[in-house]
Amino acid sequence: MIGLPFGPLGRPARLAVFASGRGTNLQALLEAFPKGHPLGEVALVVSDRGGALALERARSKGVEAFHIPWRGGRFAEEVQGLLESRGIDAVLLAGFMRILPPSFVEAWYGRLLNIHPSLLPDYPGLSVHQRVLAAREAFSGITVHFVDQGVDTGPILLQVRVPVLPTDTPQSLEARILQVEHRAYPLAVRLLLLGLAGPEPLAQALRRIWPEIPYRSRPYYLRAERALRAWGRSVEEAASATDWARAAFLFAYRVEEGLAGVAWEEQGLPLFLKEGVEDLLRRVKL
Ligand code: GRF
Repeated sequence: MIGLPFGPLGRPARLAVFASGRGTNLQALLEAFPKGHPLGEVALVVSDRGGALALERARSKGVEAFHIPWRGGRFAEEVQGLLESRGIDAVLLAGFMRILPPSFVEAWYGRLLNIHPSLLPDYPGLSVHQRVLAAREAFSGITVHFVDQGVDTGPILLQVRVPVLPTDTPQSLEARILQVEHRAYPLAVRLLLLGLAGPEPLAQALRRIWPEIPYRSRPYYLRAERALRAWGRSVEEAASATDWARAAFLFAYRVEEGLAGVAWEEQGLPLFLKEGVEDLLRRVKL
């Protein structure tokens, strides 16, 4: 059996969630990361809106929740003080309807995630489902990404596709996508906390072999690279199509369901590597 070291922190992470509204994603995160969870716990919730249901959801789980009114840079200063005083390791935006200032984004880069209800880079911004239906797309989906200075840009951590049905209205599509968000956001956070996702540029070795990895494919390469590292293998191995590399890509694909390429990666793989993949998947999928 190939093991995985405990997450990069070596202790449970302390998570903060920022939410402006109803907070159904917050609810999913509160349930996935309760107090005492070995990987991490939601320790703080912040909203820019006083009446947000999100604040109530947090308090009813006994989690500290603060309303900090939006005053641009002042909000960021206040919230930064709060995050430091509570020893927060990562910030998860869940329906947070404000653009955080560049200094905040820079300070938290790699530890600041957002969830968006489309397959980015398509359909960033608002009124996503109306626009997807108007364009007669066959698929929409969700993206969890690291936050950078843009709006709904930043390296992708995880995407899940959701079919658009001919009978869909913006409301029905939103409801179906929201269900997927509630599973995908905790999964993305587990990948981060286990050290199986990161925003850093692809390793030199990978870049030499595949200089032009398309934006949407990068998360697989990064996950495969992280899996190899977690198994104590070298990153160069990813480029050399060894059994270890195939196992790493198998893991990377299987994190998202229904992807092509899985059968090929799996074929003839030694049993201990298949078990290694199952072991990693058990840890991230739960
Ligand atoms: C979700 O669709 C999320 O992707 C987007 O805002 C919505 C928030 O919903 N960023 P909720 O407040 O989590 O219910």
